[in-house]
Amino acid sequence: MRARMAEFAFANNRLLDKSPARCDCAATMDRRADLSARKIIIDTDPGQDDAVAILLALASPTEIDVLGITTVAGNVPLQRTQTNARIVCEVAGRPEVKVHAGRAAPLERDLVTAEHVHGRTGLDGPELWEPTMPLQAQDGVEFIIDTLRREPPGTVTLCPLGPLSNIGAAFRRAPDIIDRVQEIVLMGGAYFEVGNITPAAEFNIYVDPEAAAEVLASGVRITMMPLDVTHKALTTPARVAAFRALGTRVGLFTAEMLEFFERFDVEKYGSEGGPLHDPCVIAYLIRPELFCGRHINVEIETSSPLTLGMTVADWWGVTDRSPNALFMGDVDASGFFDLLTERLGRL
Ligand code: RIB
Ligand code: CA
Repeated sequence: MRARMAEFAFANNRLLDKSPARCDCAATMDRRADLSARKIIIDTDPGQDDAVAILLALASPTEIDVLGITTVAGNVPLQRTQTNARIVCEVAGRPEVKVHAGRAAPLERDLVTAEHVHGRTGLDGPELWEPTMPLQAQDGVEFIIDTLRREPPGTVTLCPLGPLSNIGAAFRRAPDIIDRVQEIVLMGGAYFEVGNITPAAEFNIYVDPEAAAEVLASGVRITMMPLDVTHKALTTPARVAAFRALGTRVGLFTAEMLEFFERFDVEKYGSEGGPLHDPCVIAYLIRPELFCGRHINVEIETSSPLTLGMTVADWWGVTDRSPNALFMGDVDASGFFDLLTERLGRL
């Protein structure tokens, strides 16, 4: 059976090719109307795929103004994620970026980590070092609150790439900031692809389901990059070779990270490479036309031990629950990797 699955997955170079019908591509076409640089906060748990997302953002100053990076416990504990975020900024040649440490644990549960995917450091693959750039003294959750209160309403986008603990904590601590958020573009959830950390749940949502439920219920404009789309943004040997062929420190660092990162999904799914989950968030801000999805209702399971963290996505509109997210279902993978390779080549 595994051989059949591997053969099927390989033939389609996709994890379980289940392109959902009727993605509403028009839904994403109005998203880049404003051509000025978009002010964002990246909230992250690096994580090799988080690292590539941060590199893509820092390589795209015309489209993206990174106000700061807040780190959260997720793939690995907070001590490592805040260290890793600073390593990535140093690789990018951007030691001036403001990196903050946020929550070391979910809002109401014990932390679950993913060293089995990302390695003990969270950035296994390349040789690592102790970063010299500073960690900001201000707590990450306070940075999110202060930034949203300082910047004009509706001008800051939050880009969570890990568990939503920092965002949930900020909304609980300062409800006044909720209406000031321009948009949340997050990586998390799954519908057609089902779960990756349990049979029902995707990792980011599973780690802090209470935070995810409160963010989804906040009324903020939300765009979700679930496994349904990220499992179609797969590395391949040729795509990793293209990063290495850049002949730069960033290109080599990226290739070495991905050659480690992809092994888990290749073994699990029999695919040719690993899914670049988090860079989909940043690529969407730069070229939204690469993606398509549907405005639907998404609710989070927060009580059942069997399905905890499941994103109950009403893709087929079988309930009367109001749409609360643009839930992505497909991506132009070639265009995505062309963008990624070209931009990383600029660093
Ligand atoms: O399920 C994939 C997500 O969990 C990605 O953000 C990855 O970095 C991990 O955080
Ligand atoms: Ca992540």
